[in-house]
Amino acid sequence: MSIKVCNLKKRYMIGKNEIFALNNVSFEINKGSFAVILGPSGSGKSTLLNILGGIDKADEGKIIIDDEEITKYSDEKLTEYRRNYVGFIFQFYNLVNTLNVYENVCSTAVLSKNSLDVEEILDVIGLKAHKRKFPYELSGGEQQRVAIARAIVKNPKMILCDEPTGALDYENAKNILSILRNINQKYNTTVFLVTHNVAISKMADVIIRLRSGEIIDYILNEAPLKAEEVEW
Ligand SMILES: Nc1ncnc2c1ncn2[C@@H]1O[C@H](COP(=O)(O)OP(=O)(O)OP(=O)(O)O)[C@@H](O)[C@H]1O
Ligand SMILES: [Mg+2]
Repeated sequence: MSIKVCNLKKRYMIGKNEIFALNNVSFEINKGSFAVILGPSGSGKSTLLNILGGIDKADEGKIIIDDEEITKYSDEKLTEYRRNYVGFIFQFYNLVNTLNVYENVCSTAVLSKNSLDVEEILDVIGLKAHKRKFPYELSGGEQQRVAIARAIVKNPKMILCDEPTGALDYENAKNILSILRNINQKYNTTVFLVTHNVAISKMADVIIRLRSGEIIDYILNEAPLKAEEVEW
């Protein structure tokens, strides 16, 4: 089974000028892949991720997952798709500050039909002992682990990460990458990870490089490194 993106276009009017955030983007990846999306600032990485996740819409083109054309979905169906199919992880953790760790994870677990056990997920990310703490009582790396827990507890088939390690130091970043790779392998979850850090692409199964809204490189990595082996 695969995820197919065909001739995706997204344009914005800047004054009188039309700019293409995505200009004819096409690719296909196998489900369960770990894909890294690279490219300079403004090249369309977040735009592509947001359209894949159904929080933004393309102007033209198709995304087909399991023979379903998600780019045709109504708003209602798209909401259902986001709830059950997609987990998002952003650079800044987006936790609810008034809920403790356990409650933060529960708050997304209730959204999905396929949710996993909250305690199990807290174990997977190594935060069981911190479950009664509030976000302000956690380090950046721990907060990002809670954000990952919030995304994966829904048992999504696809996880979309936009610079998930951008605000973290080396050790915490590597820890987050290991957790994401483990989840990818344990649950066969497709991962798309946007980053500026070229070194991270060494652990990917697929590397997609964007420039000015176009794919300039698509590489299948035959021998991905383990997350622990990636260095920068
Ligand atoms: N809502 C918007 N209105 C107008 N232009 C936009 C909008 N969103 C994105 N763009 C433009 O589309 C292009 C692609 O933006 P995008 O956010 O996808 O880039 P990016 O690769 O994620 O960059 P970064 O690495 O800085 O996050 C940029 O030129 C950006 O200015
Ligand atoms: Mg971006």
